[in-house]
Amino acid sequence: MAVFLNVENYSEQNRLSPPTPYLDDEIGFFLFYGKITEMTSFWDNLPQPFFILAPMEAVTDVVFRHVVKQAGAPDIFFTEFANATGWVHAGDKAIAGRLIKTDDEQPLIAQIWGGEPGDMEAFAKHCAELGFNGIDINMGCPAKSAIKSGGAALIRRPDIAIAAIDAAKKSGLPVSVKTRLGYTYVDEWREWLTAILKQDIVNLTIHLRTKKEMSKVAAHYELIDEIVKLRDEIAPQMLLTINGDIRDREHGLEIARKHPGVNGIMIGRGVFSDPFCFRKSKTDTDNHKEELLTLLNYHLDLFDSYQPILGRPFETLKRFFKIYIHDFDGAKELREKLMHTTTTDEVRSILAHNDHPHYTY
Ligand SMILES: Cc1cc2nc3c(=O)[nH]c(=O)nc-3n(C[C@H](O)[C@H](O)[C@H](O)COP(=O)(O)O)c2cc1C
Repeated sequence: MAVFLNVENYSEQNRLSPPTPYLDDEIGFFLFYGKITEMTSFWDNLPQPFFILAPMEAVTDVVFRHVVKQAGAPDIFFTEFANATGWVHAGDKAIAGRLIKTDDEQPLIAQIWGGEPGDMEAFAKHCAELGFNGIDINMGCPAKSAIKSGGAALIRRPDIAIAAIDAAKKSGLPVSVKTRLGYTYVDEWREWLTAILKQDIVNLTIHLRTKKEMSKVAAHYELIDEIVKLRDEIAPQMLLTINGDIRDREHGLEIARKHPGVNGIMIGRGVFSDPFCFRKSKTDTDNHKEELLTLLNYHLDLFDSYQPILGRPFETLKRFFKIYIHDFDGAKELREKLMHTTTTDEVRSILAHNDHPHYTY
């Protein structure tokens, strides 16, 4: 994980039960109810718990999402976050390939961030035109560039957070939110999450730390049951996804068993230590090295194929090597050799001389 220098910083589901009608406002109710029934989406047909690949900037682009899919697909993919205001003012060059996708990575949610509801509406509509399956609003990024107006700053500006949700809904796509427990103090969680639970969103993902805690302390699993209780009181139809320090599918299933009511498990850095972490069956340790190196070759091929549209420098690929080259004899030496390469062909040649098969997928 150290290679990523920009590290920032279940129960029976009673969902989609119709809202209770207000008898003195029948017309309003039927219009409202009609809209809800139209808004069914992939979110209604997920396994319990479902697994999500976390959005990670400079990591979960179209290339790496395909690698993870090949290794063991999650139920949902998120893009890395993309800024609404940047796109509104400067167009596609401002988002540098963050929304590039293919039709075989489904369902795929575009994660957007910003602090200008008008820009969020325009950008969310653009994402709908691009064919994304949903919009997620980032309300948890602690990076200095984000907290000036969006990301975790929205925890302190619930009015803007709510306006951003309403704006994103105009895209017609299901809207979800990813946030943290609070900005500075853990006990902010109840007031902040109450404000979001009162919004009509489809899923709420909670990274179980505050903005101030970054990723430096253990995720607050001790709060999960209380958060589930709050969700059940305010918005029993809303899906609740838990995020933070979850290693793999087995660990996620254990958390869901211990905390009935949790619907989804989101895994981010778990893919760095085990790219097969979403797999349903345990990795065969005898072939682990071959599998990792084969996956790296697949990554190289994808990097080359997307190079004409993504234009990423070769150096950006090096941060991924540690994911594949670890936990086997000679891994450190091999990694060191690879760090001196300048092209994907050079990497392939070193791997080929390292005596392992190069399967093609
Ligand atoms: C390199 C990196 C980039 C990240 N980029 C984003 C992002 O674009 N949007 C977001 O909501 N969270 C982002 N995060 C936070 C993760 O989605 C996740 O909430 C966090 O890493 C905790 O989960 P984990 O312990 O499973 O990694 C990023 C995390 C890392 C390590």
